[in-house]
Amino acid sequence: MHVHLRMDWFNVFLKVWILLAIIIFPVQLFITAPYGRHFNTKWGIGMPNQWGWVLMESVSILMMFGFFLFSIKEKSTVAWFLFILWIAHYFHRSFIYPFRTHTRLKKIPISIVGSAIFFNIINAGTNGFYLGYLENYDENWFFDFRFVFGLLLFMIGTYINITSDNYLIGLRKKNEDTYSVPSGGLFNYISCPNHFGEMLEWIGYAFMCWNLPALGFCVWTMANLIPRAKSHHLWYKKFFVDYPINRKAVIPFIF
Ligand SMILES: NC(=O)c1ccc[n+]([C@@H]2O[C@H](COP(=O)([O-])OP(=O)(O)OC[C@H]3O[C@@H](n4cnc5c(N)ncnc54)[C@H](OP(=O)(O)O)[C@@H]3O)[C@@H](O)[C@H]2O)c1
Repeated sequence: MHVHLRMDWFNVFLKVWILLAIIIFPVQLFITAPYGRHFNTKWGIGMPNQWGWVLMESVSILMMFGFFLFSIKEKSTVAWFLFILWIAHYFHRSFIYPFRTHTRLKKIPISIVGSAIFFNIINAGTNGFYLGYLENYDENWFFDFRFVFGLLLFMIGTYINITSDNYLIGLRKKNEDTYSVPSGGLFNYISCPNHFGEMLEWIGYAFMCWNLPALGFCVWTMANLIPRAKSHHLWYKKFFVDYPINRKAVIPFIF
């Protein structure tokens, strides 16, 4: 009875959360989030970029850890597997990625860090709550088509995301304000393969979990990254007159 009641409220909350992402998406397409190359002080004062990333992304680890490890429910092997994938992604994103970027002297608006913290509290919180308290995967789920397909997408997405971020980080040879036109591989088709890879990862994760919290995170990731890639794409076209005209923003041949 209690579990059912909890599930009902949880599902209503998630449906509203997903609807919000869908409603906000067209608006976000016309807003440029002011961090990285688009940094400005219109959204308030900034803090050191690398520490901003540590702060906003490590919240995802804390929320997932908190809900998953403090729940006394006995977890399935599948839940442990999904938990480890989440922690591995966010360990890299919080503690390795920021210190590999050449952005030591750059700033990120505190308002961006604050909104990312809010976003991560809800998304990692709902995913952690599901895996810690509600899941009941059985071992056969490892062999279900949705799990296998999702894992494949997740691995391909991770590979594309990390190799593209590495390439972009390596493009900056001089000072922190220099940018060059990326090329080669997926960069010949889209301006932002790193964002494309990240989207594939969370689409894959949503298949593997086959639950509302993972779907919610996947939808929100797309609602954030498609507009960000669009802003990057327009920025490249504005600052590089010879920017390849056939290149799309983030989805090869489409957008
Ligand atoms: N799940 C989500 O909702 C979500 C949201 C946001 C980001 N992310 C992930 O976080 C990572 C970073 O995102 P981002 O939007 O900040 O990526 P980004 O703008 O593409 O930047 C990635 C790094 O490469 C540098 N860089 C990019 N293009 C460059 C160029 N043409 N020349 C020289 N240097 C270049 C950037 O420097 P500058 O910073 O100085 O521009 C930054 O250090 C990505 O993997 C993304 O998928 C996920």
